[in-house]
Amino acid sequence: MDKKVIFSGIQPTGCITLGNYIGAIQNWLKLQDDYKCLYCIVDMHALTVHQQPAEFRQRAVSFFAQYLATGLDPEKSTIYFQSHVPEHAQLTWVLNCNSYIGELSRMTQFKDKSRKHPDNLNMGLMDYPVLMAADILLYQTSLVPVGIDQKQHVELARDIATRFNNKYSPTFTIPEPYIPKSGAKIFSLQDPTSKMSKSDVDPNAYIAIVDSAEDIARKFKRAVTDSDNEIRFDEVNKPGISNLLTIYSNVTDTTIEKAELEFEGKGYGEFKTAVGDAVIEKLRPVREKYTDLMNNKDYLMQIAKDGAQEASYMARKTLSKVYRKIGFVEPKR
Ligand code: TYM
Repeated sequence: MDKKVIFSGIQPTGCITLGNYIGAIQNWLKLQDDYKCLYCIVDMHALTVHQQPAEFRQRAVSFFAQYLATGLDPEKSTIYFQSHVPEHAQLTWVLNCNSYIGELSRMTQFKDKSRKHPDNLNMGLMDYPVLMAADILLYQTSLVPVGIDQKQHVELARDIATRFNNKYSPTFTIPEPYIPKSGAKIFSLQDPTSKMSKSDVDPNAYIAIVDSAEDIARKFKRAVTDSDNEIRFDEVNKPGISNLLTIYSNVTDTTIEKAELEFEGKGYGEFKTAVGDAVIEKLRPVREKYTDLMNNKDYLMQIAKDGAQEASYMARKTLSKVYRKIGFVEPKR
């Protein structure tokens, strides 16, 4: 039997953070052996906020290198740029005509982003989740490994797929979100009540996966905590310490309870240093591999080309099916 399909992606904005790594990429890595995985740089989504063209192009390539540096393996997974596979945009149009302005205007992320970018309330910002639904549905995806912030978008993709299937006959696999039990939302190091965001203006708020060891150590030392001195997981009263415990347990592959025991009676300074050291060790090979890959752009672009070809082959199958079902005239072959 064919393997089930996994699809996920990251927007090339800001830089890939420890939040993206723990919330999404760690699961992507685990799933590579048992599923048919497609991991995409969703550059079309990034266009919903203004991008300086030269920087944007450079950043997208850098993200591609970072994907490979984390251990995503082009021998196992299909890795490509969204803009190289035109079927994403083509399916989006059909899904647009089966989505409602009401449901799109209720999306939490749309409301947040509209507040943050009142000067650039473009149509793409609202249409963003439909493009995301097209990404997922094009490949008959079963599971979508994401952090908790993307759950609502995956649910919308399910709704759109179900609606289409009911209107025309079964066409799309109904996808499920795949969210880690711990680490589905890593918080800012400077404001532990808000999400670690890759486009935060304050670089001390996030760890980039290719940050230097010195930067990582310094950012953890400065992490905002609280004024007592107990290392205990309590998200309501101790969000900073709880976030650090989540990070530590994820990168060292231990439980929160064991981490609490390990640091019982220790001071915050010592704890923060230990978390920093654990993250440095986890990310060291990523940074090393990244530097090598960035010196080999031809190789990167070849992987991207092969990936896009394979993705496009799969995508065309679904798109032709959709075009037939909705009644478009079939071109003469
Ligand atoms: P993006 O680029 O904002 O984030 C990429 C992935 O990282 C997760 N994530 C986090 N997880 C834990 N803690 C955090 N602080 C944190 N920040 C981000 C996100 O949940 C996501 O899994 N719309 C998507 C990209 C996308 C996509 C798709 C994803 C486009 N099409 C199809 C899956 C399937 C986004 O903006 O993710």
